[in-house]
Amino acid sequence: MAHSVQGVIARGKGRPVELTTIIVPDPGPGEALVKVQACGVCHTDLHYREGGINDDFPFLLGHEAAGVVEAVGPDVTNVEPGDFVVLNWRAVCGNCRSCLRGKPHLCFSTHNAKQKMTLADGTQLSPALGIGAFAEKTLVAAGQCTPVNPAAKPEVAGLLGCGVMAGIGASLLTGEVQRGHSVAVFGCGGVGNAAIAGARLAGAATIIGVDLDDRKLEWAKQFGATHTVNASNTEPIAAIRAATNGNGADVCIEAVGHPEVLRQAFYARDLAGTVVQVGVPTPTMTMPDIPMIDFFGRGGALKPSWYGDCLPSRDFPLLVDLHLQGRLPLEDFVSETIGLGDIEEAFHRLQRGEVLRSVVVL
Ligand SMILES: NC(=O)c1ccc[n+]([C@@H]2O[C@H](COP(=O)([O-])OP(=O)(O)OC[C@H]3O[C@@H](n4cnc5c(N)ncnc54)[C@H](O)[C@@H]3O)[C@@H](O)[C@H]2O)c1
Ligand SMILES: [Zn+2]
Ligand SMILES: [Zn+2]
Repeated sequence: MAHSVQGVIARGKGRPVELTTIIVPDPGPGEALVKVQACGVCHTDLHYREGGINDDFPFLLGHEAAGVVEAVGPDVTNVEPGDFVVLNWRAVCGNCRSCLRGKPHLCFSTHNAKQKMTLADGTQLSPALGIGAFAEKTLVAAGQCTPVNPAAKPEVAGLLGCGVMAGIGASLLTGEVQRGHSVAVFGCGGVGNAAIAGARLAGAATIIGVDLDDRKLEWAKQFGATHTVNASNTEPIAAIRAATNGNGADVCIEAVGHPEVLRQAFYARDLAGTVVQVGVPTPTMTMPDIPMIDFFGRGGALKPSWYGDCLPSRDFPLLVDLHLQGRLPLEDFVSETIGLGDIEEAFHRLQRGEVLRSVVVL
């Protein structure tokens, strides 16, 4: 029996989102039906609504979620009804070239639910990142459900489903930040501040937050930045060099998604340092114009970071446990809790820089 529930959709490019009735099928083979308890508003949801990801409207938005498994289809063994889960957007296949060479976090063949959720008139919905969790219930591939300790609050645990995991992983996994490193993070939104929290967790000695907005920089200090730079009035490359004995940072993390910021991250880096690109560019952006001799001569690595190179089954339970032990203040990312009907306003607050995360609680 299909389920008729409330969900938030984007019908067309730039159009305000709508709360409407959606139809969610019962789970088929390999699928799970999840009762959503909380879902954060990520900048990527806004990118979908603005047509910045693709044109497959209508989208069922929301992808940073936690909830309880309500039902599973035949052959599902990793979760059962009643499990408290964080949803992930990279359910690994176990069989592709990357999985077989022991790198499942880079899986080339991740999957989502096969059945489609629809509008009441039968129009198929495109769930954001294969999840679609601004809804009372959603249908996902069972591998997209990662069980974690149910002692964590849903509005906190769900954040690991996207931006916070991407930021922490950009530091810990892609950037391989080590004890004593210097780290510069460009863009101190939800993702960038999570990168700062990750750098602190790893024992970085110098952590420099860069943003255009002083409110974000105050949050950056709260998450562990030892220095902050407002790039609207201070040249960030010189400021980062000044904070690192003239050398530049060992790891520079771009968490904006802009060529000029990538250029700054490239030159703010010490010799043999690492640049991590975790901000998502639009399809028309091109790489910054950097002389090839600078790329060669400075050594080190430039690394894109999808989902912080996380493996959800390994990393979500671990980070929830660190949070429950008081070592990872995930609750500080929750600027406000809102209802399903409040997402358009939450987008505006995100654009105005007033929040790190607005989280829908159901
Ligand atoms: N790689 C991934 O897997 C992944 C996952 C989630 C989000 N993202 C992306 O990460 C980016 C950040 O997401 P978010 O949710 O933190 O967004 P956000 O809007 O909360 O944060 C972006 C921050 O960048 C700052 N900023 C803008 N221009 C800047 C500049 N020139 N210099 C310095 N700072 C600047 C803004 O003031 C803001 O604080 C987005 O592009 C998002 O799509 C990537
Ligand atoms: Zn695979
Ligand atoms: Zn996201």
